[in-house]
Amino acid sequence: MTVRIAIAGINGRMGHMITETVLAQPDMQLVAGFDLQGGRAVDRITVSESKDMDKVLKATKPDVLIDFTIAAAAVQNAKTAAANGVNLIVGTTGFDEAQKAEMKRAIESGKVAAIISPNFSVGVQVFLKLLREAAKRLEGCDIEIVEAHHNKKKDAPSGTALKAADVIASALSEKPKYVYGREGVAPRGKEIGIHAVRGGDIVGDHTVLFACDGERIEVKHQAHSRQAFASGAVKAARWIAAQRPGLYSMDDMFRE
Ligand SMILES: NC(=O)c1ccc[n+]([C@@H]2O[C@H](COP(=O)([O-])OP(=O)(O)OC[C@H]3O[C@@H](n4cnc5c(N)ncnc54)[C@H](O)[C@@H]3O)[C@@H](O)[C@H]2O)c1
Repeated sequence: MTVRIAIAGINGRMGHMITETVLAQPDMQLVAGFDLQGGRAVDRITVSESKDMDKVLKATKPDVLIDFTIAAAAVQNAKTAAANGVNLIVGTTGFDEAQKAEMKRAIESGKVAAIISPNFSVGVQVFLKLLREAAKRLEGCDIEIVEAHHNKKKDAPSGTALKAADVIASALSEKPKYVYGREGVAPRGKEIGIHAVRGGDIVGDHTVLFACDGERIEVKHQAHSRQAFASGAVKAARWIAAQRPGLYSMDDMFRE
């Protein structure tokens, strides 16, 4: 079966890499691409403006829309795709709770299958599992998350840092509060400190420090290339095309 793919944010950093990855798959066909500015030729398609998404999806009938844009755009794109019965891979980050709920409603009412994940790299899924294990065994230690990204990244802290915090918090018996950076008099309480570093072309580093009495552990993931995210997102697109309607996680995909 050929999986028909559309990409939103196709002119972006991730969009370019996902395009190359999709075009290299013998069982995939790129049928549409969207961005704020249309007109660019990519393989056999021409990039469409996102305002024409409804019309273009109806004409090209993709199986999956892969979205790496910005939060407000991704919500709108998810609603348009779901209303057209197009399954979704959403890699965009920076959603608030209301935006997450809006996408979930669209996925349910459109009866499509979707994964929304702030990190599609395989390594990060293992990293999250290690954090869950460490948090269970190191209850009582101080926990700090430090993430570093390139200077063009819009949202802070990263979606992956927040996901790491949620995974750790759910493994602890008492839910800690999240403290974003510190300044002035800031005594440490029952909290997870979350810190964002921005600079240069750093693709994405996440370090979690478990600091205990007399010892400490650091769990670290570093992405060397956006290819780690693109390969995972394309793999997830192939998987989601074969699922029943519903909202899935990367964990579901790796369980198989
Ligand atoms: N889930 C992951 O594994 C993962 C990995 C890397 C980046 N990201 C996230 O993906 C998103 C994109 O990252 P990037 O580095 O490629 O950013 P980027 O700024 O290079 O690309 C975003 C693209 O989206 C386009 N865009 C904006 N509004 C749009 C709209 N309404 N419709 C269509 N396109 C629109 C922009 O013009 C741009 O070309 C960010 O939210 C980033 O945090 C996620």
